[in-house]
Amino acid sequence: MIKLLNQLSSVRLTTPDVDASVRFYVEQVGMTVTDRADGAVYLRNWGDYYRYSLVIAPGDEPALEVMTWRTESDAALDEAVRRIEATGISGEWITGGLAHGRAFRFTGPYGHTMELVWELDRYHGEGEEASTYPDRPARRSRDGVAPRTLDHVTIAASDVRGFAAWYSETLGFRIMAHTTLEHGGISVFTVLTTNEKSHDLGVVLDGSSRAGRANHFAYWVDTREDLLRAADILMENGTPMEYGPSIHGIGEQNFLYFRDPSTFRVEVNTGGYRNYVPDWEPYEWHPAQGSNNFYRNGQMPMSMTESFPPADGPSATEEGVLPGTEDQLVNPFARHGQG
Ligand SMILES: [Fe+2]
Repeated sequence: MIKLLNQLSSVRLTTPDVDASVRFYVEQVGMTVTDRADGAVYLRNWGDYYRYSLVIAPGDEPALEVMTWRTESDAALDEAVRRIEATGISGEWITGGLAHGRAFRFTGPYGHTMELVWELDRYHGEGEEASTYPDRPARRSRDGVAPRTLDHVTIAASDVRGFAAWYSETLGFRIMAHTTLEHGGISVFTVLTTNEKSHDLGVVLDGSSRAGRANHFAYWVDTREDLLRAADILMENGTPMEYGPSIHGIGEQNFLYFRDPSTFRVEVNTGGYRNYVPDWEPYEWHPAQGSNNFYRNGQMPMSMTESFPPADGPSATEEGVLPGTEDQLVNPFARHGQG
């Protein structure tokens, strides 16, 4: 298969209170508003190469409405659409989108809406925003967390392996690692990537009956010191740390998690390995090996199992609940040493 996708370029979230979210992303995260259209607000990080990476749109609930991925070329966009339609899924072409060319929007087999696009306007900050350095789209921000870029998105699906297989076979995502429970072999987490990052798409097990949910999206900062400073700034401004700072075993990224005013979860991320192996075969991790917490010295808060929009919560997998695994299904990382 030719390489189809290149990177995650933006996420579009819905919230009942657009103004509260925008205020948060501007004042605490340090993003800049670029555009407003049809009630939605478009924001960017200083290092995002394209015009925007986050769209906050009005909606009844906190949710991931769309995730947009850039293809490798215009031909790759057509090939991706051909492959999606060959699986029996149909979508629609969208034109006139803000700062991008024709895009194909479809909803995948587990209810997640994705847009694929090749033509995206590059951003070049002017005046006060212009950087000293030619490669930078804008001057480094001094405001709030000041992430460099959008990094990844993690969704929730009722069948982690099924989700990974469809996106791998149809769109060429490389499957990088799995986490399965020690007992029962239930898959609770898988990471996939379109490039050298250890993941730009994650999937957590969703035992609820609601399709198309998401767990979080993540920003990138350059260093661990930036990440620790982000935690400090957020704490000083009344935003609690939901989990972290710490390091994931899978991917080896430093992480921290918090919530925006809509309750949607946001991660800040740095470090981690790069992986260019084209025929990488994913290893299976168990929680006790430190898949989630490299140091194996803590417990993941139960709140981390909440995905968006809210639903009836983790309950079972497609195989059903295996006797003795009920507690692990709710949060396999909730015991000391599994982080
Ligand atoms: Fe993440």
